[in-house]
Amino acid sequence: MEPTRTTDPFEIDFRKKFELNDKVVVITGACGLVGKAFCEAAAQFGAHIVVADIPQSDPAAFAAKLEERHDRKMLGVALDVADRGEVEQLKTAVLDAFGKIDGLVNAHQNKSHLIFEPFEEVTDENWDTVVHINLKGTFLTCQLLGGWMAQNGGGSIINIPSTYSVVAPNQNLYKGTSLGCPSAYSASKGGIDALSRYLASYWASKKVRVNMITPHGVWNNHEKQFEENFARFSPLERLSYNHEVAGALVYLLSDASSYVTGDNMLVEGGWTVW
Ligand SMILES: NC(=O)c1ccc[n+]([C@@H]2O[C@H](COP(=O)([O-])OP(=O)(O)OC[C@H]3O[C@@H](n4cnc5c(N)ncnc54)[C@H](O)[C@@H]3O)[C@@H](O)[C@H]2O)c1
Repeated sequence: MEPTRTTDPFEIDFRKKFELNDKVVVITGACGLVGKAFCEAAAQFGAHIVVADIPQSDPAAFAAKLEERHDRKMLGVALDVADRGEVEQLKTAVLDAFGKIDGLVNAHQNKSHLIFEPFEEVTDENWDTVVHINLKGTFLTCQLLGGWMAQNGGGSIINIPSTYSVVAPNQNLYKGTSLGCPSAYSASKGGIDALSRYLASYWASKKVRVNMITPHGVWNNHEKQFEENFARFSPLERLSYNHEVAGALVYLLSDASSYVTGDNMLVEGGWTVW
């Protein structure tokens, strides 16, 4: 939608700018910790949500729950985002169901089954799996769904890198815990950051805005020592909650952010500020 050409703010309905009424928003990793909050937040602002996740997460069931809560058509699609054929099928299913795509949110992730292996022990297989799902999955959905938006008047893409593609993990954070941050994860997220900036420039003339949200330390019943360590290093002295990440999503999906592209919105409690 073209912005109103005015200098008079009284002409603007600022609340309406945040509405997502009738927008069709595809969210990958939609059944995850952050993905679910993204789905519910965008649905509360009026969107039709396409819940895309692996079959084991049962995206159809979560889509049905959203449909019931919001009394609005939703769609669940089971897929592997790193499989071109399955992403093609996702695109077909969305267009068959809704006839358009307004938003794409890439919230899937894989950290490998050996989540916190030391760098010296990373195998080719683990490296490839993490990069394949995180980075190639984002490439494929951007190319196929974002490509449709570019040909059809525009839209909003939000990709999710990580604090650990902005700064390195502070190894002291993990002292006394079983946790860590794998190198392949950081590297794959750095690729997502670069790809997002590339596409923000590449598709600007097609009215596809491409932005990022960087969450950090989203609480998920972490072990006590980790939570204590995290509080010591965080300016806001605590972990975040999934619902605190979702406000940024509504903003970036909506017309409220019509002049924002190529941005990485840090929802990290000031982690990288000092
Ligand atoms: N949780 C955090 O603290 C945090 C911090 C920084 C960045 N992030 C990023 O935010 C996003 C959401 O994180 P989260 O905590 O909700 O993760 P999560 O692990 O809870 O959810 C990830 C979802 O991705 C899905 N998924 C995995 N492989 C897939 C595939 N091949 N195809 C389709 N779906 C697949 C999983 O089934 C899961 O539902 C991720 O990109 C993550 O890297 C999270």
